[in-house]
Amino acid sequence: MITAETIEKIKETARIEEVVGDFVHLKKRGTSLIGNCPFHGEKTPSFHVSVSKGIYKCFGCGVAGDSVRFVMDHEKYSYPEALKYLANKYNIEVEETVESKENIELNSARESLYIVSQFAANFFEDQLWNSDDGKAIGLSYFKERGFREDIIKKFNLGYSPDVWDALTQEAIKNQHAEEYLEKTGLAIRNDKCKLYDRFRGRVMFPIHNFTGRVIGFGGRTLKTDKNVPKYVNSPESDIYHKSNVLYGLYHAKKAIRDQDNCYLVEGYADVLAVHQAYIENVVASSGTSLTIEQIKLISRFTQNVTILYDGDAAGIKASLRGLDMILEEGLNVKVVSFPDGDDPDSYMHKVGAGAFKTYIEEQRQDFILYKANILLAEAGKDPIKRAGIIRDIVESIAKIPDNIKASVFVRECSHLLEIEERVLLTELNAIKVAKSKKSAPAPRTSNPGHPDMPPDDLFAEDGPVQDPAIAVQQVSTDLLQEQEIIRLLLLFGHEMVNWEQIGEMHVGSFIIQNLGDVSFDNDLCKRIVDDYISQSEMGELPTFNYFLRHKDAEISNLAITLTTSPYQLSENWLQKHQIYVKDEAQNIKSAVLGGLYHLKKRKVDKMLTDLMNQMKEERDEVNLEALQGRYMQVKNIERVISKFLGSVIVK
Ligand code: CTP
Ligand code: MN
Repeated sequence: MITAETIEKIKETARIEEVVGDFVHLKKRGTSLIGNCPFHGEKTPSFHVSVSKGIYKCFGCGVAGDSVRFVMDHEKYSYPEALKYLANKYNIEVEETVESKENIELNSARESLYIVSQFAANFFEDQLWNSDDGKAIGLSYFKERGFREDIIKKFNLGYSPDVWDALTQEAIKNQHAEEYLEKTGLAIRNDKCKLYDRFRGRVMFPIHNFTGRVIGFGGRTLKTDKNVPKYVNSPESDIYHKSNVLYGLYHAKKAIRDQDNCYLVEGYADVLAVHQAYIENVVASSGTSLTIEQIKLISRFTQNVTILYDGDAAGIKASLRGLDMILEEGLNVKVVSFPDGDDPDSYMHKVGAGAFKTYIEEQRQDFILYKANILLAEAGKDPIKRAGIIRDIVESIAKIPDNIKASVFVRECSHLLEIEERVLLTELNAIKVAKSKKSAPAPRTSNPGHPDMPPDDLFAEDGPVQDPAIAVQQVSTDLLQEQEIIRLLLLFGHEMVNWEQIGEMHVGSFIIQNLGDVSFDNDLCKRIVDDYISQSEMGELPTFNYFLRHKDAEISNLAITLTTSPYQLSENWLQKHQIYVKDEAQNIKSAVLGGLYHLKKRKVDKMLTDLMNQMKEERDEVNLEALQGRYMQVKNIERVISKFLGSVIVK
């Protein structure tokens, strides 16, 4: 482990403009430096480097961080690798604590698993090209299917001889321990304690991790016998975790970044076929349904995913829901479907590389519209079914974290579904509100939304439909208000103020004390506030830098965003309420009180709505009276807050 002192020294020495400057051409603009973002393709620079803060931030794709984070993300280094890179750049001697014995053993065991896997890959590949059976059975199979030699070589495809223990014997002969053959699943021990090969008489697809090391295999049978499993796969091991591996990522990652798009297919054969059509930005989930980890892996390289689907309708419908998960991660999802019965592999071989490429470029459709079309076609004219679809679609839209993007889909779907935009917006808002308060049921006047029931306000002519502008905003202001508190804590927490009736105090302590029992809905904001509170309870207010360099990248990202992009708030709130005078720092008091009171007002409003709903339901007179009393109390608090906000706003 690298010592804390060395880490400190590296972070102090590394200059952000020099570190970034090695990879990005930076120009001076005002107080910061700007350049074209290396993490997404762009022609006009939106990548900002702040020398004084030691950070970078791209206003195009949102990446942000300090020197270490930049090296990690740009070079795909681990944390220690990035530190060593910087140490080397600045001639800093790296002190490391001696690794524990267990650690060394653990690492060398993993290393042995990698080594035996690579040995097996070489063995299978050699068999394919050089053994009689390999050539006659394996290689000719690939060629019959139309795969070119360069593709077969590129993916290190192989052949496992149809012999009980060919690989096992060869590995033992080459001093590989039985233990590692077993742990990688390449060999299996039978009840007589003898080792035999897992893969026999199959064409072999080695699976690489994204740094290119072999971690597992898929072996396809050449028999058509239905009783033989088509694929045998390596089991999970210390080096192979299926849920966070994508087949082909190692060969695709550069192209994914260059093209700023990742094609997603189902099978090994599809990956090969798409490569053969000179499209290299393609990966496969390989049989398992797509996992969150796999999506996160893709999102390290691009925010755009295009799914290449098999043509059969049942399969498409089954996978539609899985795709919502990709939307939820904030990625843009497009879809290409192939004519019935074809998958990317068969279609490519049918029409040829050139036509295939044109097809997928021309046929790609946005996922939500694609989904809407499929479901609509299925529902026909049945009004009940159509209503169900509307909710289904809006649920997908609700998964999109970016409100602006979501509203674009609302517009497009309103045309497609022939339904008014405001109705969709109301529905969208209801779903979002319900989601943001999972614990308490949403105080909706409409149907709370069982998926099988058409929501009743869909058909209401003059039902409780909100102004669409308010509808979208309600969702975002909640978040904005919480973010504003975080921003104030980070920027002014250490500021010592001396306010009338309050006395001398740090702004951070004042905010915390006055938050009282207000709970934050947004998980990230909540994490930051909780962290802030627990640190201050230990006697020290955490600094802006602490959050900036936080080990949780989400936190450091938000810290940077909130404190570097004034428009974040100005558009939505500052301009509207005119709370601040020009120089915010001069007017911390109204900023802080405004922030706190807005947040509190929102919570109080929610309490009032809840109480009101309870009162409507309550039949017992005594209880009703108690509720009314409580309502009046809260209402008084609300008046005080409104009055305060009113006076601030007038100013
Ligand atoms: N798969 C598996 N076990 C099976 C069938 C499929 O692990 N019995 C996985 C494999 O990773 C396979 C993927 O699911 O690549 C998709 O299945 P399929 O489309 O049947 O495989 P292809 O790779 O397209 O194989 P082929 O075209 O040779 O039939
Ligand atoms: Mn196939």
